[in-house]
Amino acid sequence: MSEDIRKGLAGVVVDETAISKVNPDTNSLLYRGYPVQELAATQPFEAVAYLLWHGALPAWDELAELRAEERRHRALAPEVRAAIDLHPTSAHPMDEVRSALSLIGAMDEAGSGSVLDASGSPEENLARSVRLFAALPAIVAYGQRRRRGQDLVEPRDDLDYAANFLWMTFGEEQDPVVVDAFNQSMILYAEHSFNASTFTARVIASTLSDLYSAVVGAVGALKGPLHGGANEAVLHIFDEIGSADAVTDWLDRALAEKRKIMGFGHRVYKNGDSRVPTMKAALEALVAHYDRRDVLDLYEALEREFVERKGIHPNLDYPSGPVYNLIGFDTLTFTPLFVAARVTGWTAHIMEQQASNALIRPLSAYVGPDERHVP
Ligand code: COA
Repeated sequence: MSEDIRKGLAGVVVDETAISKVNPDTNSLLYRGYPVQELAATQPFEAVAYLLWHGALPAWDELAELRAEERRHRALAPEVRAAIDLHPTSAHPMDEVRSALSLIGAMDEAGSGSVLDASGSPEENLARSVRLFAALPAIVAYGQRRRRGQDLVEPRDDLDYAANFLWMTFGEEQDPVVVDAFNQSMILYAEHSFNASTFTARVIASTLSDLYSAVVGAVGALKGPLHGGANEAVLHIFDEIGSADAVTDWLDRALAEKRKIMGFGHRVYKNGDSRVPTMKAALEALVAHYDRRDVLDLYEALEREFVERKGIHPNLDYPSGPVYNLIGFDTLTFTPLFVAARVTGWTAHIMEQQASNALIRPLSAYVGPDERHVP
């Protein structure tokens, strides 16, 4: 392969961004300058969404306004519910999420948000971003309930984003320790510079397509197991292993078969993912709350052995898988939860791309047959 080709764009800087900074040398991740672990420890997810969109944390009245707008758009539109119901329950819930978001775009009476049409103003696209952020919990929660044969749960106006999300999923109010762990997970998943799905969104936005198309494309990229699908895969691995004392034998076999161990490794962080300690602390709180020490034992045994043998550290998906499992989410719902969080980062990037656009169109090195002619 030619020296100039950076397969997978590894190490290639394609543009500037003011939204987040990943520093693999110091294992740090900043959203608009703030360390993500500080945000997770102190902020509601709504405030972090505001920060990603606006570049500053909200004053109390700005947060109140965003919360009021979010509450106005929480309910699942009947058309969207009907579209979700058309999906066979054997379909992956990411397929439902993709279809639901596409339909919401098609139903946007003001137009779909291309820069080319008048509706694509930054203000309009910001309003669309808030509406998608508000609509996703109902889509994700209903998806899980439908698979379990349960009815839709209507949103509650008296609960904040995270507490309401859990209410719509489980139909019961959750303990503050659970709401806090969930809120933290949403913040940690919200944004991560030019990852594959965000880059996909920016490529689509760069063609002057609309905001919804860019988000729907990002959902497709996130579905893959090398990206958002990894936390789902972590739970399958945990199920396969069973308990901490089976880790050594399982890992021997997995490594002999050259399997990738999901939830470990990262394209950017090579010495550990900055988000893992915060998510692991939330996992520990849930383990104590639900009295499930066995989960933490398995988690720590696999981590210890894999890091010792391969020197490859866990990424955020490693602790978030068991966190979501303990809360009661089905494994298939994990990647849709990631969508609900990352829609904030995606839409911030789409708006940043539109504000300073250049069509993203790389080159390729042709390696097919030389010119030839039809006989
Ligand atoms: N399990 C086993 N081996 C792994 C591994 C894992 N999770 N992650 C990396 N490696 C190994 C690779 O096999 C490769 O070994 P080799 O040089 O002997 O071929 C080496 O480490 C480099 O890995 P590579 O896949 O080239 O690195 P990357 O930067 O392209 O990949 C990921 C990053 C995330 C795609 C990769 O670590 C992975 O597939 N992880 C599992 C999926 C996952 O958790 N994704 C979520 C990311 S947030």
